[in-house]
Formats: sequence, structure tokens, C-alpha cells
Amino acid sequence: MTIVASPSELKCDSSSGLPVKLFQAARLIRQGELVAFPTETVYGLGANAANPDAVAKIFQAKGRPTDNPLIVHIASADMWTALARGINDRALSLAERFWPGPLTIVLPRTDAVPDVVTAGLDTVGVRMPSHPLALALIRESGCPLAAPSANRSGRPSPTTAQAVLDDMGGIIPMILDGGSCSVGVESTVLDLSGVTPVVLRPGGVTVEALREYLPDLAVDPSALAPLSDIQRAASPGMKHRHYAPRIPLTIVTGERQANILAYQYDNAVTKGETPVLLTTNETAQVLFPRRCITLGSRNDLERVSSQLFGALRGIDESGATVAFAESYPVEGAGLALMNRLLRAAGFNTVNTVNTVNSDYTSNRL
Ligand code: TXA
Ligand code: MG
Repeated sequence: MTIVASPSELKCDSSSGLPVKLFQAARLIRQGELVAFPTETVYGLGANAANPDAVAKIFQAKGRPTDNPLIVHIASADMWTALARGINDRALSLAERFWPGPLTIVLPRTDAVPDVVTAGLDTVGVRMPSHPLALALIRESGCPLAAPSANRSGRPSPTTAQAVLDDMGGIIPMILDGGSCSVGVESTVLDLSGVTPVVLRPGGVTVEALREYLPDLAVDPSALAPLSDIQRAASPGMKHRHYAPRIPLTIVTGERQANILAYQYDNAVTKGETPVLLTTNETAQVLFPRRCITLGSRNDLERVSSQLFGALRGIDESGATVAFAESYPVEGAGLALMNRLLRAAGFNTVNTVNTVNSDYTSNRL
């Protein structure tokens, strides 16, 4: 049985103090159980980071490969110094600017961090989330929370309590429902353990925003490309299949995307498939009456990002047999968006119309 604490049961008002359900959740954490909780990025599946048996339950519940390290979530600077070494001025100024928020900072770990949390690595990724329920849960539990995204391994990350329930119902004891996640893509993972700072995973804080503090910032090639065998070994989390809907998904790239999307859709119908398109509002209008799941305006890529994981789950629920998605410029919020979309599609892309039919090759659409 999984208890879902509703938003009304989790309302904090100053007169009555913390809600009962939050005390219950914190007690479960202290007892070594798992609790799913909202963050501003995606829902996390939390366990007491200091308890190796509790953390092992996370890997089991998710079906997660044990070589993929977990992020540790904190609510105070003291918790950080207990977990990480080498917190220098550079790290402190980033934390001051971006915490609480969607930035994970990787530094050498202390002995307080169990091996199971970092998958044996000598570094630890730490972040302070900004969602009030996440912070309240960490404070009330009295320990940092190791927490990956609360999806079954390989599935799109959950941005609602319902999505967590779909994946984890009956498997974990409790879910805190804090509504939809505002950022909707996971944190940016920034490795500060080497000489050159490196973004290992683009996310809620853009590379451009980090560059203001880190002019020498590098971005790992895995941001937009599948990993080579050598890179796989260095970056465990990025090698596993991720975010994938159950039906085949292909991303349309290049010029005149609307024409290509229209062609792919109509061609799929001819072959007896039931296609669906993942597009912006603007493209959906042009492609009407073809069936589109829309993500928002092309002028607001943060909004488009926040809708992506829900839409990837929506593809599975749509009854479609094949899906095609619009692509985005890889700047600002677009980099994290394309990172997730490319992984969801298994890096399948198409950029041409395989026909001489002028309906598709002209500029009509
Ligand atoms: O926004 C987020 O980051 C969410 C919420 C719940 O905080 N969490 C999340 O966790 O996305 P997860 O486990 O789904 O992804 C963690 C990523 C993985 O790619 C993992 O390999 C990387 O962070 N990571 C964690 N610790 C690391 C370390 N010490 N060195 C390198 N990469 C690390
Ligand atoms: Mg994840």
C-alpha cells in the first residue's frame, strides 16, 4: 500500500506548524524507508543518505543499475560540509547564487558518505532543492536525503505525484503530492572535482548562467551525443537508456521541420500506423488536423522543457504506435531539452523528406 499525502494535507500554515503527514514521512525516512517527494525539478525518491540499507532500497525500487550514483539533497550548508571536501570560494559562490535550486555540485566525498550512494566513486553530487516540501522533509528527517528521480529506471522522470504513483504504486510506502514541478527537467550536474569545471548533465541551470561564474566551463560531449565505450566508463549515469516512451520516437531536425513532420505523419498513416507528433503550439497549428501533443510556445523553451516528461508519458497513453518530435536550438534551456529528447528517442533523428511530392518539399507548411 502506498499512502499519497494530498496537497491539502501538506499545507503548512504558521499557526498549526508542520502538517501531520510530513511528520509521518520524516518518521519513515528515519526508520530507513523510502518517501517520494516533490522538488522544483522532478519528484525524488528519498532515503536517509547515511543509511546504506535504506539507500539500497532505492536501487531495488527503481530497478536502477548499481553503478549509477545518487544525488544527495541537503537543507543547510552544514550538511554540505559533512558530505563534501574541497568546498572552496568558487564552489561557495556558485552555491550562494544557485541554491536552493536546480544545480548539483560534484566534489570529493567525505567518509560520511556510504559507498552505495556514490556507486563507489570518490566524489559526491550534492544539491539544495528549492521546493518548500523537500526542504521541510530534509529538516524534519534530520538527515540529508539520497534521491534519484522517482521513476522506474529508464522511464521519463515524474513531474507529478500521479506519475510517481504510476511507476511506484505498491512498491514504496509514501508519496508527498506537491503538485506539478515548476522546472520539470532535472538539475544541472556540475563536476568541480577536477581542474576544469565540467557540466556532466545539462539541466535547470543553463550553461550560459554558469559561465558567468566559470569562464573555463566545459560541457561533457555526452550532453548531445551517445557515449563511446571509454566515456561510458567515466560517466556512469549517462550510459543507461533513459526517458524512453514505449513506442518508437524519432526527432525531426534541420530546415523546414513542419514539412518533414507532416510527411512522416502521413507516411506512417499510409503504412497503417497510428502516429502522434510532439510539437510546439505554433507547429501544431500549421499541421492541423494531424494529432499533436503540444508543449507550449516555441518562444518559451523553459515552459516547453517543463512539459516534456509529462508529454513523453502521454505518448504511451495516446494509443499511438509511432511518434515524431520537433527539435530545438541547443542554447539556453534548449540544451537540457534536447539532451532529454535525444535520449528519449535513442538518438534516432531524421532530417529529410523521402519523396518528390511537392506538398512536402515546397514551403507550403
Ligand atoms: O533534479 C535532479 O537532479 C533530480 C531531483 C530528484 O533532485 N534527481 C535526479 O537524480 O535527476 P538521478 O539519479 O535521476 O540523476 C542523477 C545524475 C545521474 O546522471 C548520475 O550519474 C549523476 O547525477 N551523478 C550523481 N552523483 C555523481 C557523481 N558523484 N559523479 C558524477 N555524476 C554523478
Ligand atoms: Mg533519473
